Amino acid sequence: MSDYDVIIIGSGPGGYVCAIRCAQLGLKTACVEGRETLGGTCLNIGCIPSKALLHASHSYHEATHNFTKMGINAGAPKIDFKQMQAYKDDVIGQNTKGIEFLFKKNKVDWIKGWGSITGAGEVTVDGTVHKAKNIVIASGSEPSALKGVEVDEKTIVTSTGALALGKIPKSMIVIGAGVIGLEMGSVYARLGTEVTVVEYLDHVTPGADKEVGKAFQRLLKKQGLKFIMGAAVQSAKKVKTKAELVYKKGDKEETLSADVVLVATGRKPFMDGLGFDAMGGALTDRGQINVDANWRTNVDGIFAIGDVIAGPMLAHKAEDEGMAVAEVIAGKHGHVNYGVIPGVIYTSPEVASVGATEEQLKEQGVDYKVGKFSFMGNGRAKAVFMGDGFVKLLADARTDQILGCHLIGPAAGDLIHEICVAMEFGASAQDVAMTCHAHPTFSEAVREAALACGDGAIHA
Ligand code: NAI
Repeated sequence: MSDYDVIIIGSGPGGYVCAIRCAQLGLKTACVEGRETLGGTCLNIGCIPSKALLHASHSYHEATHNFTKMGINAGAPKIDFKQMQAYKDDVIGQNTKGIEFLFKKNKVDWIKGWGSITGAGEVTVDGTVHKAKNIVIASGSEPSALKGVEVDEKTIVTSTGALALGKIPKSMIVIGAGVIGLEMGSVYARLGTEVTVVEYLDHVTPGADKEVGKAFQRLLKKQGLKFIMGAAVQSAKKVKTKAELVYKKGDKEETLSADVVLVATGRKPFMDGLGFDAMGGALTDRGQINVDANWRTNVDGIFAIGDVIAGPMLAHKAEDEGMAVAEVIAGKHGHVNYGVIPGVIYTSPEVASVGATEEQLKEQGVDYKVGKFSFMGNGRAKAVFMGDGFVKLLADARTDQILGCHLIGPAAGDLIHEICVAMEFGASAQDVAMTCHAHPTFSEAVREAALACGDGAIHA
């Protein structure tokens, strides 16, 4: 007799959501987590703490740049970085305890410790064997190492160290102009750090719509971030109290020095001590766990979801897979629409996207049209100093069906979901254009972009 119907390894957004859904579907469920708190990378050292620091640094920016414009004279604001970190830690605590509460409420057992798969239907944690009919691997990811770069999480840091610095550095070099580099870089730039981003490619945010990427980089430059593009970092090491970094641009090697170097060059699946390989588990050529359309691995009774398998390393993608795999295990039909997974960069302004980029449509030879609308024409955005940015809607030239949306501007990460729902329903740009949007809201800019796909926007 098995102890459990399902044991999930890992309690990040993929794992904990899967555990709750399994329990809701009547399965006897346990979740193995070795950290002191539940929630994985996202809640402990990722999405949630970074959003706290983004909010704090944005508020500081508002106080220093916009308060007097609105007639608020609060004197020169000062940063108490210790308190800012304490606020961040409190936010983490509230969220991780929230998951603990949800586990208790749904009768999910938390098996504390690091789990290993030691046989068919067997997960061993601290020497105790737990049996399960099904095992779901949701062990997440960790920062990839970069050759020649020695991370100590104090002077040369990954996102983990960048979230927990003891003081605000005077200077910081960010390796990689991806999501982590730009989110954390903009936090510290707003707090007064001189930030230089060194990126291998000639554009920021690889894979994003190029037009949005260009506008994004322009806005970040305006905020004080410096960029060295087309530069491959060769090495970074601690020299006395500083970090020294060598990059190669063309044939030339250059050296930079800063108080802190942040390595943000991607993440890789985390499988240390998991025992999946010893079970004969198959990986892809990129080192991810290989799964079929129902998240089954090649080993009977073992499933895998989230960052440890292929696809974008996003908490919400893992959550969707967590719910879907629970349905599959319960004998129902789990489904994830990988064509409609939004991506958001939580800078100020935010950047968000869903569906195909213009570059992808060109490559696929799709006949498309573009509806664009600038936030300069949006009354609400101007009232809150957020007129920079635009909405870009891509629709099929013949059928008007929405194929993608890319936006940079206020609350972009929330606005994108109107288009996600529209795409799930196979909506046309006209469907969005004919939907009444409350005035004055940022969402009117989305409607105007939809109108621009037809007879034209009103406020352009
Ligand atoms: P990334 O893959 O987004 O960007 C890494 C960048 O580093 C690339 O632009 C690459 O060209 C550059 N690079 C690589 N090697 C280099 C070298 N030697 N010299 C110079 N540049 C180099 O990776 P990132 O930002 O570390 O994020 C990791 C994962 O975490 C991503 O999958 C991301 O989607 C996810 N994430 C998502 C967030 C969100 O949705 N808001 C927030 C944080 C992370």
